[in-house]
Amino acid sequence: MKALLISRDTQLYAEIASQGAARVPPLNVAASRASLRDALDRPLAEAPSLVIVDTSEADVADGDLFERLTRHYAVAHFMLLTDNHHPELLIRAMRAGVREVLQLPLVHRALHEAIDRIAASAGVASMRDGKVLAFIACKGGSGATFISTNFGYALATLADKKVLLIDLHRQFGDATLYVSDQKPAMTLSDVCRQIARIDGPFLESCLVHVTPGFGVLAAADDPGQTTEAKPEHIDTILRVARQHYDYILLDVGRQIDAVSLRALDSTDAIYPVLQLALPDIRDARRLLDIFRSLGYVTDHIRLIVNRYEKGGRLRLQDLHAALGAEVLHTVPNDYVAVTDSVNQGIPVLQLSRGSAAARSLSDLVEVVTARRVTETKGLLDRLFGRGEGDD
Ligand SMILES: Nc1ncnc2c1ncn2[C@@H]1O[C@H](COP(=O)(O)OP(=O)(O)OP(=O)(O)O)[C@@H](O)[C@H]1O
Ligand SMILES: [Mg+2]
Repeated sequence: MKALLISRDTQLYAEIASQGAARVPPLNVAASRASLRDALDRPLAEAPSLVIVDTSEADVADGDLFERLTRHYAVAHFMLLTDNHHPELLIRAMRAGVREVLQLPLVHRALHEAIDRIAASAGVASMRDGKVLAFIACKGGSGATFISTNFGYALATLADKKVLLIDLHRQFGDATLYVSDQKPAMTLSDVCRQIARIDGPFLESCLVHVTPGFGVLAAADDPGQTTEAKPEHIDTILRVARQHYDYILLDVGRQIDAVSLRALDSTDAIYPVLQLALPDIRDARRLLDIFRSLGYVTDHIRLIVNRYEKGGRLRLQDLHAALGAEVLHTVPNDYVAVTDSVNQGIPVLQLSRGSAAARSLSDLVEVVTARRVTETKGLLDRLFGRGEGDD
């Protein structure tokens, strides 16, 4: 865990740095600043997980500066060190959500206990490095929501991954309904409104849980509220989500706006979902042109063909030729199993395990989880100068 210390006291710095270094895992006091003003003037490029503020030399303006700093490092935990001379700052800090206040001179045991509490609530002990995969429908009804939600369930149950699906629809988001009958108590808008509180446990508490390993963050059901979500909120949510989930799936819907673009900016892969029909292909081409104009690496974009039927007039090779993107996977047309699943809000893998759709989603789990290996190999090949088609 990385910490920033705000204090003029070099001895205190040395004390906290050495106590931090002795911990397992270590607390790394990565930087120090002389005052709150200094911390705001010279923000760290990479946000710390913990900001420790020595208030012994605080002055009247510090309440405002402190609040600004908590907004700047919205995801960080704050710890205050106090010599009891500035109660007004303490009250402001408590109002801003600071829970850890320690007495100066520092009692080492109290410091370690406070860091333990923070580490536990941030889930530092089990930090993950999650991958963000976006599913985007090329045309309305392509099947992006069915595939992303059911794939999330398959990843969690078959590959034992911890999976979060975020429904990014601005209006009429329906992802939870595909796999659950629970009504979401919290939505993406609620998380954005309380963004200063976000950490792993808070995010987890906002989800509709389909299984213990698979949760869905619902879209706002009131279109009026959707203005709450801002691109910087999405950055923060994804940053925290990556630390706590193996896979973060995005049901992006068809709208391309500031929020969905910011989400797409930080994805590891984008999967446009389409059916093999000319209108879908036309829309897919428009979408891919947008991605190219945004400078997205085409390697990260792979198509998923839904409701695929072998022997149709259009072939997969035609699609590759027309769009210049590789087809990652095909999901068969399986009207009965999919309609039953969608109508009952039960994942197809749970409801009809042997169905063609369920088997295809299991295959997709293999393709996606194995792809990491292929990608590493690709990188090695590039490093050692081997050509594309060498093997
Ligand atoms: N492989 C499939 N076989 C049969 N039916 C399917 C299949 N995939 C999806 N469907 C049907 O298509 C309908 C639309 O799918 P879905 O809602 O997932 O599309 P979408 O791309 O999310 O659409 P929207 O643009 O409305 O968000 C679903 O109600 C489902 O019944
Ligand atoms: Mg949808």
